[in-house]
Amino acid sequence: MRTTLLACLLAGALGIGCGRPDEGGGWTVLGEQLSDAQTKQSDQAYDARDELFATLFARLKVSLQEHGAAASIDVCKSAAPKIAAAMNTKHDLKIGRTSFRLRNQGNAAPAWAHAHVEAFAKAPAEALANAPMHLSHADGRLAVLLPIRLMSGCAACHGPTDQIAPEVHAALAEHYPTDKATGFRIGDVRGWFWVEVPAR
Ligand code: HEC
Repeated sequence: MRTTLLACLLAGALGIGCGRPDEGGGWTVLGEQLSDAQTKQSDQAYDARDELFATLFARLKVSLQEHGAAASIDVCKSAAPKIAAAMNTKHDLKIGRTSFRLRNQGNAAPAWAHAHVEAFAKAPAEALANAPMHLSHADGRLAVLLPIRLMSGCAACHGPTDQIAPEVHAALAEHYPTDKATGFRIGDVRGWFWVEVPAR
């Protein structure tokens, strides 16, 4: 519960307050207390996140072993959005990945998460690093930001630049000319899963 309190404090630091409407969109950052309905929605967000992560990482692991990092870029480029779309349908929600240092600009944060992600880019706050951050909408939707940390299996494509193979650099430069997603170390916050759960 400490982390939600921190999320609340961060919201205060951002000037959007806790339990008050977020700028735009009518979203409110939630504190420690989730209602029963919100707890259920939050559980569903975690289930979708767990399945997306497990499916994607399993695919990535096999591809890295069999084909190497450069050839595995396509798993992240083509398979990740398809797996996310399958999760949307299966769990009846919206899920995606975002970051304060994007590789693909198409992964920009949804409007409700934008201010938080931007703030993290300027001052990496513990709250968002250790979140979940929950937000609720007056219409009953629940939104969750869940941090993604770098693990050893990610470093071949997101690690320190001098540790990334030349062919991976070349492939990234070709597909992602504005790439900002290298230079991370194991344990760093790489970004977040964002999940938006409709009113249930
Ligand atoms: C084989 C190279 C490769 C590996 C290994 C890899 N990624 Fe990525 N990652 C990519 C590519 C390519 C994209 C852009 C995907 C797209 O076009 O949507 C990406 C995108 C992302 C994004 C979405 C935000 C953005 O910057 O576009 C996150 C978050 C992310 N990766 C985290 C991880 C984590 C965590 C790991 C380890 C579990 C990992 N990646 C392993 C290549 C890789």
